[in-house]
Parts: sequence; structure tokens; C-alpha cells
Amino acid sequence: MTWLITGGAGYIGAHVVRAMTEAGERTVVYDDLSTGVAERVPAEVPLVRGSVLDADGVARALAGHEVTGVVHLAAKKQVGESVDRPLHYYRENVEGLRVLLEAVTRAAVPSFLFSSSAAVYGMPDVDLVTEETPCHPLSPYGETKLAGEWLVRATGRATGLATASLRYFNVAGAAAPDLADNGVSNLIPMIFERLGEGTAPRVFGDDYPTPDGTCVRDYIHVADLAEAHVTVARALRSSPGTALTLNIGRGEGVSVREMIDRVNAVTGYDRPPTVTPRRPGDPARVVASAARIAAELGWHAKYDVQDMVVSAWEGWLRDHPEAARS
Ligand code: WQD
Repeated sequence: MTWLITGGAGYIGAHVVRAMTEAGERTVVYDDLSTGVAERVPAEVPLVRGSVLDADGVARALAGHEVTGVVHLAAKKQVGESVDRPLHYYRENVEGLRVLLEAVTRAAVPSFLFSSSAAVYGMPDVDLVTEETPCHPLSPYGETKLAGEWLVRATGRATGLATASLRYFNVAGAAAPDLADNGVSNLIPMIFERLGEGTAPRVFGDDYPTPDGTCVRDYIHVADLAEAHVTVARALRSSPGTALTLNIGRGEGVSVREMIDRVNAVTGYDRPPTVTPRRPGDPARVVASAARIAAELGWHAKYDVQDMVVSAWEGWLRDHPEAARS
């Protein structure tokens, strides 16, 4: 059994590769290295450089490595950019997936795990978001993930491919400093960047209907997320024809203010944030119900927010040693 991990040189993908290989699964990485980093792929794991839009390249990788399952993470993931470049996002995330599914079907690969997102829910008006909560994505990014889920499920129905769509909530932390997120597009790295520059972290709005007025999110350690992929991949292998849709979160809401306080404590900075106007399109509260994956597959997150901040900071210091407080 060999798993092709598309996007396996990315932040989340590299964690998935590591968790799968440590669990004894054979893996091959397929990545165009547009944002991925080859050094993140372990030396013993083959790295095929290619785009999921390249039908022949995908077909060669599937046949050449006798692939029997695909974990598809290769995608564009910046919400703001997707608003400016919707056609690019639809091409990369939807057309790329369609090409990949065609190759997977032709090669009769039996299992397919798709990286989806809590962005499919949009602005959910519930305390805990379940997989039954209606999906109303607010950005082209979220739309491409929802359309992706439809493609995956329809292909499963038509061909018997076992499928899973994992809806990631807010992913953070690192299993090792060299695997840390090297982008600065999410809250924790954005706080680090501001503190390191000597400026105050920003709170995008403190007039939301939440306990402290700032947005509440459900943060999940990337190592836990990677373990969830191992669990789900194995479930697909043992249940041909199955179709899973699962939230990957912890069910605990953390506000922006709480996160900034925690980052200040972990990093040794003591800089109160400044409040700026709301960022357009931000929902007040998005917190997962993680009950379905627990009930169906017995998976639970092991790490807490402190673990996420500490490990993310170790990764940040590796690339920004000047940010350390003496
Ligand atoms: C978290 C909260 C900001 C920076 C996005 C996608 C989602 C998923 C994860 C891919 C928000 C606030 C942020 C700052 C702040 N991506 N914030 N000051 O928007 O919840 O989720 O990334 O799948 O689909 O939508 O994540 O980390 O950008 O923001 O106040 O300097 O922090 O307003 O409330 P978000 P985020």
C-alpha cells in the first residue's frame, strides 16, 4: 500500500507525510514546489515534482509508484487572494482536483482523502459546528473547497472510490521547528511578526458578540491533524466504498485576545494589542463539534493551545533568531 501525498512538501502536507511514515505507511510526495519546500520531505520518501493539473504527470506518478491511495492537499489556501484571483483558485483547487480524480479513477486507486476546510461553513450561526451545519462559504477559497467535496463524493458514488473530506479548523503549531509554517497569513505567525518588529499585535475588531468582543476560533495542532489523516486513511482502506465528511477541530473556542495573551506569555514579550477595525468577512465564532470523528473512528486531539503556541514559537525562532527575548 503506497499513499501519494499531493502537497506533501507544504506545511500541513509534510506533517502528514511524517505521521504516515512513522505509522509504517509507505508514502510518495507529489508537489509542484510553488510554496512547498523540498527539504521538508524526508530523504527516504520519493519526491515527484509536478502539478496536479498535469494529467500525464499524475498518471505516471500513480503507476510508477504503484499507488493505492491518495491524500490530496495540494491547493491554494489564502482567503484574501482568492477574492482577488477567483479563476486562479477555481483552476488550482477545482480543476486540479478534477484532473487528479480522473487519473485516480483510470488507475483504479481505491482510496481518496481530500483536504477540505471549515471555510465551507462561512458564517455559521451555531455554538458548535457539526458536519450537518449548512455550508455557505463566503470566499472563492471556501467555494472551491465545497465544490471539491462535491466532486469527491460524486466520484465515490459513481465508481466505488472510498472517500473522505476533512474539514480543518484553524491549524497551528509544528511537530518540529523545521516543519513550522513559513507563511505569515494566520493569527499566530502574524502576532509573532508584529512582536519581533517591535510593534503591537493587532486585534481585528473587538465589537463582536463574543465574551471579550474578539473573534473566537477552534485551533488544532498540526500534529493532531496529521494523526487524524493516518486514522482516516486506514479507515478508507478497510471500508471500500465508504464516504466520510469529518470536522477536524477540538471543540474549544479561543478568542483573539486570549491568543495574544498566551503568545505574550510564551514569548516573553508583554505588549498589549491595538484594536483595528473588523477584517471584512470574519465570522464572530467558528468552533467545531469534534464528536463525529470521535464516535466513528475514535480520534481525539492530544495537544492544547499552549503546545501549539510553544511549538510555533520554536519554529519561528529558527527562521527569525533576532525575535528572541534575551
Ligand atoms: C483568526 C482570527 C482574525 C490576525 C482562515 C481561513 C480558514 C483556514 C484558516 C484554510 C480572525 C483574527 C488575525 C491578526 C487578528 N484556512 N486576527 N489579528 O480567518 O479564522 O481562518 O485560516 O483552510 O479557512 O478562513 O484565520 O488566522 O486569519 O484569523 O485579530 O493579526 O484572528 O480576524 O478572527 P481565519 P486567521
